[in-house]
Amino acid sequence: MKPTVFIDRQIPAEVEAFIAEHCIIDKWDEKTPMTRQQLLLKMASANGLLTAGAKIDAELIEHAPHLKVVSSISVGYNHFDLEAMRTRGIIGTNTPHVLNDTVADLALALILGTARRVAELDRYVKDGKWKTGDGVKLFGKDVHHAKLGIIGMGRIGEAVARRARFGFDMDVVYYNRSRKPEAEEQLGVRYFELNDLLAYSDFVLLLAPLTPETVKLIGATEFKLMKPSAIFINISRGQTVDEQALIEALEQGTISAAGLDVFEKEPIEADHPFLTMANVLTLPHIGSATSDTRFDMAMLAAQNLVNALTGQVPPNVVDELL
Ligand code: DGY
Repeated sequence: MKPTVFIDRQIPAEVEAFIAEHCIIDKWDEKTPMTRQQLLLKMASANGLLTAGAKIDAELIEHAPHLKVVSSISVGYNHFDLEAMRTRGIIGTNTPHVLNDTVADLALALILGTARRVAELDRYVKDGKWKTGDGVKLFGKDVHHAKLGIIGMGRIGEAVARRARFGFDMDVVYYNRSRKPEAEEQLGVRYFELNDLLAYSDFVLLLAPLTPETVKLIGATEFKLMKPSAIFINISRGQTVDEQALIEALEQGTISAAGLDVFEKEPIEADHPFLTMANVLTLPHIGSATSDTRFDMAMLAAQNLVNALTGQVPPNVVDELL
């Protein structure tokens, strides 16, 4: 008898066909996202769940007596309650590696976009404000040869460092829980303690995963250590930053600009202060969102799911659940 899986979002037909070879599929086919209550009801018969951000906590697990695996189409797994999953022996998997270059590309887009004020000046042209003699007020900052500080030097951090060093001749420093001697040698990056990195960098890029230790890792104290000319970029999770402190740092000129792909609450509220700040570049959490990469992520997640349900080791079990 094939195991039953529930898929809580649209996935490519080819990926679904692969899962169907091994599993009975129940899926959410509506255009609107499903509610928590609807998901809980679907858990009654599922052996596997394919999702991207659904909160996997004690409540969901209580509704899922047959659940063996949750496969997330994401590298981040901060939506997993690891303790609750471990207690019930539920496997959790994610999709690392396949998105590294795509997310690194977006980091560069935010660095370039904030430094050269791309979105702000696009609006300026389209609003018919461009006049001869505007010159100085359109100036931005150089990216090439500037100092980039990367907080969280995992695989994506290394992909960013490679682009920054060899594409833009940037001086790259990093802070990480552990030193990366190989990256230091191959990429010519230097390790700095966090506070030193904050004081040194023209661009501070936050890439650290969201864990209990990284909640509000960057707050008022850290913004005060940065240069007034510094640009802060966040492509990790909104909760790694004290968002109120960031708003104040931008309003008071403690730092100069921010490029943000992630927010404390997503989607962002319509009256959020960021939406009226010209020095904040906002994106709707699209770090890994290209057609090719999202396909690869969905396929890898499907492989993880099927392996876990057919007695094989999934390629990407979340470390803490091994
Ligand atoms: C990830 O894969 O974790 C990206 O942030 C998309 O959620």
